[in-house]
Amino acid sequence: MALHHGARLRSRAAPLLAVVVLAVLALVSLLRNRNHTAAQRKILLDPSFTPRLPRQGALSLSLARRNALPPRNAARFPSLPDGHLKVVLYVHNRPRYLRLVVDSLSRVDGIGEALLVVSHDGYFPEMDEIVKGIAFCQVKQIFAPYSPHLFPDSFPGVAPGDCRDKDRAAEKRCRGEPDQYGNHRSPRIVSLKHHWWWMMNTVWDGLEETRDFDGHILFIEEDHYIFPNAYRNVQLLVDLKPKKCPQCYAVNLAPSDVKAKGEGWESMVAEKMGNIGYAFNRTVWRKIHAKAKQFCDFDEYNWDITMWATVYPSFEAPVYSLRGPRRSAAHFGKCGLHQGQDSSSVCVDNGAGAVELDAIDKVPNIKADWPVHIIRKQPGYQAGFKGWGGWGDRRDRELCLSFAYMYHVKDTLSVVEKLPPSGTLSMVVPMLQGEVPFFAADEESSSVGALLIP
Ligand SMILES: *[C@@H]1O[C@H](CO)[C@@H](O)[C@H](O)[C@H]1NC(C)=O
Ligand SMILES: *[C@@H]1O[C@H](CO)[C@@H](O)[C@H](O)[C@H]1NC(C)=O
Repeated sequence: MALHHGARLRSRAAPLLAVVVLAVLALVSLLRNRNHTAAQRKILLDPSFTPRLPRQGALSLSLARRNALPPRNAARFPSLPDGHLKVVLYVHNRPRYLRLVVDSLSRVDGIGEALLVVSHDGYFPEMDEIVKGIAFCQVKQIFAPYSPHLFPDSFPGVAPGDCRDKDRAAEKRCRGEPDQYGNHRSPRIVSLKHHWWWMMNTVWDGLEETRDFDGHILFIEEDHYIFPNAYRNVQLLVDLKPKKCPQCYAVNLAPSDVKAKGEGWESMVAEKMGNIGYAFNRTVWRKIHAKAKQFCDFDEYNWDITMWATVYPSFEAPVYSLRGPRRSAAHFGKCGLHQGQDSSSVCVDNGAGAVELDAIDKVPNIKADWPVHIIRKQPGYQAGFKGWGGWGDRRDRELCLSFAYMYHVKDTLSVVEKLPPSGTLSMVVPMLQGEVPFFAADEESSSVGALLIP
């Protein structure tokens, strides 16, 4: 009898226990979700580093003020729908190319749903005018205020007393550290990596229009011709990624081999991250941002090679990106970035006829029931590559690292908690409003915004 009673009790206790366990699990997941946004905001910073930014001249200051202006065309495109993408176009000084890209964007299906952010490296009136003329979507224009192109006689431009070429600093008593090949910095060469890193930090963590955005941001360049199906294809890929390729970090508009048009298979393709039309979310940005030191210390002036050789290999798994079997964007430029119109050797190429579209490139052409073909081994830059140099100067490395800190370090930190193993700090910080956050008082740039450590 007693035995029987005990058994009955146990059989009643089992469902009760199950209910309690389920309730606890539900509560835990609820609490987790509630703190989802806070978790995404955790920033890794090294407390021993103090960010410094160069003193700005009049042009730099006036551009920084323009960066705070609201997007244009907001009256014509008042609401951006759920599931829209932000599109960031980064440009230097190739107006002929930019006209072609803007023209291609104007014919992209869905572009009116997007916020287009155009990030300028340097101030060039012709580039400015082209962007001001865009009428097919909301446009937010920003200018990198610390671009070397805005500093004619001080760092990040060339300052009097700087070493040049293969100067020997000790003999010539000049300033600067050479790269691994013995060459001193050249502003024209370092500007590209500075711009890309400033733009990434600004778009994800600085700009009011994008810093709370939880979707994917698509990045394109001034020599990427964008196909009419690009926007819808990216939306498809973003939707399919969690199920079809959970190991993919990003989606791409084109193969990582910039000359390839795609295989034309009836499958999606996962391969190494490419640099034409790539889109990822904030989770991925936080992983990249956490590698700021590796990015900024690597002696390589190209941002993409820096990512392939140092940042991606430091993630725990291979960094795959998902794309369709046909490209939706094409790199068309023959002139390198350093051969802008202001160069002594002007590169002439109007990009005309570079891209031919078939009917299939004008409509979404990725199918949800396709399998994913994974390309595992690919040639190209990877861990172990030493870098092409051009990035040896201590000042460039510090400016780069300062960009990663400028939106996170302020006197008014709200929460600071210690991360056990590394001794670095994990912080949840309020984002800054409008103004350019740090401002150095002397010519050399001085220390600003000390980190608070409890
Ligand atoms: C969410 O995070 C904040 C700050 O880290 C913390 O104070 C709060 O207790 C957390 N809330 C929940 C519901 O876990
Ligand atoms: C962002 O993308 C990564 C990689 O695809 C994914 O693992 C993660 O869950 C995504 N984060 C959010 C908040 O959607």
